[in-house]
Amino acid sequence: MKVIAIVGSPRKNGNTELLATHTLKAIAEEGLNTELIHLAGLEIKPCNACMVCQKEEKCSIEDDLFPIYLKMKEADGIILASPVYFGSATSLIKALMERAGYMARLNGEPFQGKVGGPLVVARRAGQNFTFAQLTLWFQILGFFVPGSTYWNVARGLEKGEVLRDEEGLKTAWNFGKNMAFLIKKVRS
Ligand SMILES: Cc1cc2nc3c(=O)[nH]c(=O)nc-3n(C[C@H](O)[C@H](O)[C@H](O)COP(=O)(O)O)c2cc1C
Repeated sequence: MKVIAIVGSPRKNGNTELLATHTLKAIAEEGLNTELIHLAGLEIKPCNACMVCQKEEKCSIEDDLFPIYLKMKEADGIILASPVYFGSATSLIKALMERAGYMARLNGEPFQGKVGGPLVVARRAGQNFTFAQLTLWFQILGFFVPGSTYWNVARGLEKGEVLRDEEGLKTAWNFGKNMAFLIKKVRS
């Protein structure tokens, strides 16, 4: 059983990556395999509505998306982690959501019955909107979305600041534990 966390910040070693790593640690403790995937440095263009994926399970845009889509299909659990940019998820992770989501919807709904959920980091505001934005993606694609002890949001501006947000870390940790629990139930 495997969980992947896709980090949609354009900067590496940042708060979103730290929070996702923390959650994956909680999941790994329960005996599941984990992998963190950075979108930073990759080319993920937005959907161009060419509709090629309506005819076959491929994307006409030749960039770094398709190998990640294949990993998403293989995983039992998927975390989408994003910083808040102007009150919203980053364009990087939105581009992945558009293209992976459409390919999945038009090609047998491979994400149905997987477990997933969001992680969000911001300096001050926009966490809940972004949390909802990401949750809507999981919901429409048939994921089971576990809860935590708060919404999966944390605070931080400069790299590393999120590690000072005790409640944010605890929430992300408990979300990881619930995710591992649910995956084991779903897959048993
Ligand atoms: C372009 C841009 C827009 C941002 N917009 C917001 C915002 O709307 N609300 C907020 O609280 N923080 C905002 N921030 C701050 C980031 O969410 C914050 O620094 C976060 O920790 C970055 O995550 P990272 O370290 O994983 O890149 C913004 C940062 C950037 C670069």
